[in-house]
Amino acid sequence: MVDPQWQPVPMDLLQTANSGPRKKRPRKMEASLASTPHDIKFQDLVLFILEKKMGTTRRTFLMELARRKGFRVENELSDSVTHIVAENNSGSDVLEWLQVQKIKASSQLELLDVSWLIECMGAGKPVEMTGKHQLVVETDYPASPEPGHQMTLPLTAKQISPYACQRRTTLNNQNQIFTDAFEVLAENCEFRENESSYLVFARAASVLKSLPFTIISMKEIQGIPCLEDKAKCIIEEIIEDGESSEVKAVLSDERYTSFKLFTSVFGVGLKTSEKWFRMGFRTLNQIKSDQSLKFTRMQKAGFLYYEDLVSCVSRAEAEAVSELVKEAVWTFLPDALVTMTGGFRRGKKIGHDVDFLITSPESTEDEDQLLHRVINLWGKEGLLLYYDLVESTFEKFKIPSRKVDALDHFQKCFLIFKLPYQRVDSGKSVQLEGKTWKAIRVDLVMCPYECHAFALLGWTGSRQFERDLRRYASHERKMILDNHALYDKTKRILLQAESEEEIFAHLGLDYIEPWERNA
Ligand code: CTP
Ligand code: MN
Ligand code: MN
Repeated sequence: MVDPQWQPVPMDLLQTANSGPRKKRPRKMEASLASTPHDIKFQDLVLFILEKKMGTTRRTFLMELARRKGFRVENELSDSVTHIVAENNSGSDVLEWLQVQKIKASSQLELLDVSWLIECMGAGKPVEMTGKHQLVVETDYPASPEPGHQMTLPLTAKQISPYACQRRTTLNNQNQIFTDAFEVLAENCEFRENESSYLVFARAASVLKSLPFTIISMKEIQGIPCLEDKAKCIIEEIIEDGESSEVKAVLSDERYTSFKLFTSVFGVGLKTSEKWFRMGFRTLNQIKSDQSLKFTRMQKAGFLYYEDLVSCVSRAEAEAVSELVKEAVWTFLPDALVTMTGGFRRGKKIGHDVDFLITSPESTEDEDQLLHRVINLWGKEGLLLYYDLVESTFEKFKIPSRKVDALDHFQKCFLIFKLPYQRVDSGKSVQLEGKTWKAIRVDLVMCPYECHAFALLGWTGSRQFERDLRRYASHERKMILDNHALYDKTKRILLQAESEEEIFAHLGLDYIEPWERNA
């Protein structure tokens, strides 16, 4: 027997957004449709369909259709409504409308585009709500709430985007107790090369960093995207016990602590750590004193300058390095643009290294000689403790890489700089026990001028922000973004950009300032 609720839906009614001229329908039909009673199959959902910009006819049609499919649809907006469905409205529009109606949006209220309802109608049941269905509210979070001023949540949970590139994440992390826990778990997954679990924890940490309030009960996390059950359990445990047993277990896990220690040496990655761990090593002293082990040039430097390199780089040190980098670069290419990128550009006060992007608006033939000349100069001045210069493999007009974590093709130099202390703070003299310099990790990247905006965006980070930018580009815009270019797959063209703002605009994203990219 055919289920009467499974009557085919006229596709033209479903698909036409009400942009074109609409034919008037006899009012009689509305009345007869609305009066038919239907069984409610999905008790947890209470829908309300917004008439604004949708029109009465289409609204009535969709309401009736949803009811026939077993959804509970309210005629009037009330407290019992859980899902508001709108068409041609942004999240901000809906919120504004709610405000005019003097209705307060609770954090559980879902604001959805009509595309979600249409998919539900096709499936005959509620379908999963994803970022493309959820209406986004553009808003500027206050960077930090006034001290003593209890900040009220300006947004409902559903307006938080599942993409880090649609969230403003400053360094003012209100949920550090949770994000620290997630970062330990994510790192542990990285050490175990468990990519999928890594992403679960990294995304959870990232979304919590963007919240303008502190989580104090499970109520606040309802509807927040990027929080899978695994992550929610950890949050619940921390709320109840002040700590997570899983995090505690990881922190005392031998594999985790060993990997953490080994990878803290410059030049030691997962492969080497794995090898040393399997060989039974547990301390750096055991490793250093073992005669049978062979170290790379990078690892030798890593051990030699270990203490300096694990002590973080301060902003004052980064600025001092910046002066020396500019001085050297401008000796050879006076018009070159030198920009400090990475964490310091995002406003961080400390870093594990200092990153620079160099480009020259006046393309010269021997542009590729610049880094060699800088290295030579510093070598002569005794300022270089280690360097590895990687030549460019960049090709013009190449379609960007699809891989989210692909390395870029620019000419680069990874080095350890010998920073004379007097350059750090001449007034106070920060010399320590007769030491006159500090070893500092520096990354120099040289890029062709035409892709400097892409390179700047790519090298500013954070890692999670970059990953979500690429994911957003491909999943939401059918575009491919990497450190060199942006490719529109539909139009089959490379999109040009002079600035980061233009790249965000190409992607249809609101501009996010560098200090809001600490995702
Ligand atoms: N990056 C990249 N390709 C690399 C290395 C880094 O595109 N081979 C980008 C990453 O997106 C990263 C940014 O450059 O976000 C800076 O990298 P890194 O120095 O590792 O991280 P920071 O964010 O600067 O953090 P830290 O303070 O620890 O240096
Ligand atoms: Mn860095
Ligand atoms: Mn770096």
